[in-house]
Amino acid sequence: MTAPHPRVILQKEAEKTPENLSLFDRLRRKAAAANQRVLMPEFADARVMSAASFLARTGVARPVLVGDPGEVREAAERLGCSLEGIGIDDLSPEERRACAERLFERRRAKGLTMEGALSSMEDPLHRAAAMLRMGRGDGFVGGAVRSTADTVRAALAQVGAADGARTVFGAMLMECPHAAGGTRRLMFADAAVAPDPSPRALSETAAEAATFFAFLTGETPRIAFLSFSTKGSAEDESAKAMREAAELARKKHPGLAVDGELQGDAALVDHIAAQKGVTDFSAAGRANVLIFPDLNSGNIAYKLVQHLGGARAVGPALLGLAEPMCDLSRGCTDEDIVDAAAVVSLMAKE
Ligand SMILES: CC(C)(COP(=O)(O)OP(=O)(O)OC[C@H]1O[C@@H](n2cnc3c(N)ncnc32)[C@H](O)[C@@H]1OP(=O)(O)O)[C@@H](O)C(=O)NCCC(=O)NCCS
Repeated sequence: MTAPHPRVILQKEAEKTPENLSLFDRLRRKAAAANQRVLMPEFADARVMSAASFLARTGVARPVLVGDPGEVREAAERLGCSLEGIGIDDLSPEERRACAERLFERRRAKGLTMEGALSSMEDPLHRAAAMLRMGRGDGFVGGAVRSTADTVRAALAQVGAADGARTVFGAMLMECPHAAGGTRRLMFADAAVAPDPSPRALSETAAEAATFFAFLTGETPRIAFLSFSTKGSAEDESAKAMREAAELARKKHPGLAVDGELQGDAALVDHIAAQKGVTDFSAAGRANVLIFPDLNSGNIAYKLVQHLGGARAVGPALLGLAEPMCDLSRGCTDEDIVDAAAVVSLMAKE
């Protein structure tokens, strides 16, 4: 028997005053003003249904559940949730075929068959992503039930990269209340998509993550390219790759505060950075945009900080795509889904 997922009691927004609002609560309030439609394909999950109901009740976003209306109503009844204020939408059989033809044309050279494309359109993640592209929603939140690989595949197939973007990646916004010196807000990237990115991809990830961090927090981004080495203390190929990525980012974006390669402590704590020979503290010692060498380190790090360090985390927001999309961890709570909907609404408004 599967243990029920521990449901988080949604916070009582009304009890909070502007002074005691966390960053995430402020993002929810801003999202409410943006009033965007968020497509949510995984309606059969209790956390998703509860988050949709909360979004509709509080007006943080306008949730649209993607699927057959009868199945959505049945799920709502089973989960004891009201559908008041919640939209329901899906692609018609004709629209599914048209989307499949589009996908087939784009991917046939890579061996995709029309049967394969049609079968993709049976997947609600693909349908919700296609609906986003078609303007039937302003943002997408998925991945509470399905894996990140499935969610990103649907995004790449149906939405694709934004004009001029070559690197799609996942960014986690973290608020760390127990950091030395008080609450710190950080962005971790890539935490979701590319298992082994090149220095070029890492430098593009950094620039995009920095813009997104500044947009969400209003803070000046300070980028650290992380490694197990600080400024040549180890001469490993992976450390050199982070040094190269930092150099590329610095050259391409001279206005950004960038440093690397740096160890985590030298990136975050100025006196440790000084002990390790750092002399420029524009990013080192007080970095807030952390670029990880690969997906293992990025993904593991954010989960450790979230679950051991008590950080509140939202994402991974999928950046570099042509439309606003946010993935989730399958370990997410309904609170996390509400935060993701708020972030994706703000991405849509931008
Ligand atoms: C993201 C992922 C699913 C893509 O793998 P894939 O399905 O094999 O996709 P492909 O490599 O065939 O690429 C498909 C298309 O997307 C593009 N693409 C793949 N990764 C990309 C990226 N990071 N940025 C931009 N484009 C990308 C490819 O260039 C290709 O484009 P094309 O069709 O125009 O030629 C895969 O890299 C993956 O599984 N990543 C790990 C996800 C994960 O488990 N995360 C941890 C949990 S949070």
